[in-house]
Amino acid sequence: METTIPNPKLRAFHSLSTNLSLPFSLRFSLTFPEASRKKSTSFRQTTSSSSLSYIPLRVSANSQAAPASTQATKVSSIPSEMKAWIYGEYGGVDVLKFDDKVSVPEVKEDQVLIKVVAAALNPVDAKRRQGKFKATDSPLPTVPGYDVAGVVVKVGSQVKELKEGDEVYGDINEKALEGPKQFGSLSEYTAVEEKLLALKPKNLDFVQAAALPLAIETAYEGLERTGFSAGKSILVLNGSGGVGSLVIQLAKQVFGASKVAATSSTRNLETLKSLGVDLAIDYTKENFEDLPEKFDVVYDAIGQCDRAVKAVKEGGSVVALTGAVTPPGFRFVVTSKGEVLKKLNPYLENGKIKPVIDPKGPFPFSQVAEAFSYIETNRATGKVVIHPIP
Ligand SMILES: NC(=O)c1ccc[n+]([C@@H]2O[C@H](COP(=O)([O-])OP(=O)(O)OC[C@H]3O[C@@H](n4cnc5c(N)ncnc54)[C@H](OP(=O)(O)O)[C@@H]3O)[C@@H](O)[C@H]2O)c1
Repeated sequence: METTIPNPKLRAFHSLSTNLSLPFSLRFSLTFPEASRKKSTSFRQTTSSSSLSYIPLRVSANSQAAPASTQATKVSSIPSEMKAWIYGEYGGVDVLKFDDKVSVPEVKEDQVLIKVVAAALNPVDAKRRQGKFKATDSPLPTVPGYDVAGVVVKVGSQVKELKEGDEVYGDINEKALEGPKQFGSLSEYTAVEEKLLALKPKNLDFVQAAALPLAIETAYEGLERTGFSAGKSILVLNGSGGVGSLVIQLAKQVFGASKVAATSSTRNLETLKSLGVDLAIDYTKENFEDLPEKFDVVYDAIGQCDRAVKAVKEGGSVVALTGAVTPPGFRFVVTSKGEVLKKLNPYLENGKIKPVIDPKGPFPFSQVAEAFSYIETNRATGKVVIHPIP
């Protein structure tokens, strides 16, 4: 089966790389921008699909110690090769391949090596794999995954606070779209800058912690950028998604919102209420912009900025995460900061902010492709988490 590579320059590299006789893992440890692009059909595929297990929706956090079932044991020896999900070309879910001989990434001075216990998917993982950000992406092949929760097993020479054995979580890519790491979190090990991480909240297990970083940092940064403060009202478009479910909680519990409204379809209205919204709007039955009430801030987490600007008070702010922007709305791309997680840890530890985990998950590591297919339906409630990881 031939793979289409439109750029002739790449085609030359492509045929070169498909003829390489080096072991796959060795090719990964070389520095190779384009020469490394290879036919995905030569990757080993050792997984099989099986039916998804159902676990009821979990909006969960408490002030007790995390349950032992997902705690990691101390890792004493680090192998040179690991299991990972990887793709060598952009495309649909079928470009994702499982490989058990990917080189464990090197740790730079300011980085730690994490034994991944749980990871989570974000829409950006799917969009990146589809090639939507190829102009600013790091070179292929790619091990996807932004969100991680796991245990530090090695520290770089300039690492100041973290040490081996620390249980950490974070979004491993400082800039989501500008050169995100080639070796992501859908693997046994990932190397991450200390400044992007925080200690895992004590009351959360690794699955719950992995459900948070990129979404909660986006939720927080968006609220800050609107100048949100106590006493203001907010409308959240897509309150049941990974980001929106945390915008609702942060607005109420951290920023002191006077009123929180949010949209979802009928099936997710109860989830919105459980998160503390004052007004749950069923977008299948009413248009939020036709309501007489207007809001100080509209947080658009679905791509409806043209409608969002009709629901904001004069002088208010509309922040958008995706889609076309209509003035006075504005869009931003999240910057990963461990400091934000550290600041929010007390609210997670006292149970005021709770991760929302989609009931179809967690997906085991063998079902990463199924997890991608699911998040790409745009129907996930809260986060799609991958656990256990070998
Ligand atoms: N700019 C940034 O830095 C940044 C950061 C994070 C995310 N994003 C983007 O922001 C968007 C949201 O991310 P996410 O992780 O929150 O997504 P997500 O969790 O995958 O969103 C899924 C949710 O969308 C809801 N939904 C679908 N159509 C809707 C509609 N018309 N109105 C309201 N809700 C609707 C679904 O609920 P129902 O089934 O009830 O419809 C589902 O619960 C994505 O496009 C993502 O790429 C951007």
